[in-house]
Amino acid sequence: MKILVTGGAGFIGSHIIDKLVEKHEVIVLDNFDLQVHKAKPNYLNEKATYIEGDVRDRHVLSNVLEGCEAVFHEAAVVGVGQSMYQIHKYMDVNTLGTSQLLNILVNEEHDVKKLVVAASMSSYGEGAYKCGNCGIVFPFLRTEEQMKQKKWELICKCGKPLHSIPTKENKYQFANSVYALSKKNQEELCLMVGRTYGIPTTALRYFNVYGPRQSLSNPYTGIAAIFLSRLKNNNIPVVYEDGLQTRDFINVSDIADANIFSLNNPNTDYRVFNVGSGLPISIKSIGETLAAMLGKKIHPQVTETFRKGDVRHCYADITALTSLGWKPTISFETGMRELITWSGTQVADDKFEQATQELKEKGLVE
Ligand SMILES: NC(=O)c1ccc[n+]([C@@H]2O[C@H](COP(=O)([O-])OP(=O)(O)OC[C@H]3O[C@@H](n4cnc5c(N)ncnc54)[C@H](O)[C@@H]3O)[C@@H](O)[C@H]2O)c1
Repeated sequence: MKILVTGGAGFIGSHIIDKLVEKHEVIVLDNFDLQVHKAKPNYLNEKATYIEGDVRDRHVLSNVLEGCEAVFHEAAVVGVGQSMYQIHKYMDVNTLGTSQLLNILVNEEHDVKKLVVAASMSSYGEGAYKCGNCGIVFPFLRTEEQMKQKKWELICKCGKPLHSIPTKENKYQFANSVYALSKKNQEELCLMVGRTYGIPTTALRYFNVYGPRQSLSNPYTGIAAIFLSRLKNNNIPVVYEDGLQTRDFINVSDIADANIFSLNNPNTDYRVFNVGSGLPISIKSIGETLAAMLGKKIHPQVTETFRKGDVRHCYADITALTSLGWKPTISFETGMRELITWSGTQVADDKFEQATQELKEKGLVE
């Protein structure tokens, strides 16, 4: 089968490609965005064909789609904070880039029989919670007033403390950044058009993906990569709030497997799935784990300040996809070790302070 991977020079796309080329002919469309790639990455797979071009360019996209029977749509600009001041760019690449792809699938002849789109847990906003009084609740973001008082945990409307529980796919999506909204647009557009025109489509809501090849010089995305870049330069990882906010960290190899699984399993058609580990891990402990594994006596700096729009806890309920047969296989410990080994071969350009300064200038960090 001939398969198109958009954004395939990036972190996740490149791992999908390495698995696909074993059985398929793969064509990649990527504009080699300079924020992600300082130069052409050395991991590009020689069995795949790379076309340098933009997903917003109808002509080039139409050409690369020729003869393709499946599409993995990974191309996107990726950065929650940055999206709040580069609003046009994020909507343009992510939302309109996806509409360009769908426009072609609807209006031109093609052979596409499967579309898998990279969606994101960021579209949930806060995760799901349980209250001793009210049962399962889906709270909105914490107010700025609450955050200023450094009351980090969520409180139910009834006044009781809330406890985080796994988030299921049917939780309402309170997208709380332009990036999150653009990812919500991408999955909804793909599923809606796919259903209408009978193009089997699967949206995979990735949680926090980590692993080799994540850009160590892009300060806008990937907390594990950002901390690693800080530590490799002997700088202190900066942690907002009290550091006990949690996320779900999933290894990139498991994400790539979920993509291949979706391609081969018709039960995933026209559906959306969480792809995470199902385990909550605190942000502070990511910094501590990486420092310990690198053998550095550097402790994360817990700032007790906050970024506007940050969620407190969100981790995945993965039963929808595991009940079909996919499951995560790489433990956090093994995955982090592999990340450290890979990072030893990389030069990390730590641009965290520049990115933070931009957020401060826009009033996005308190
Ligand atoms: N990394 C995560 O934790 C995570 C979590 C949830 C969802 N996702 C989604 O997964 C996908 C892949 O993310 P990633 O972490 O590999 O990011 P990445 O930045 O490493 O890869 C994205 C790739 O898209 C390319 N690209 C950007 N704009 C483009 C354009 N206009 N035309 C063509 N190519 C373009 C970039 O050059 C890059 O190679 C994205 O859609 C992202 O939103 C990632």
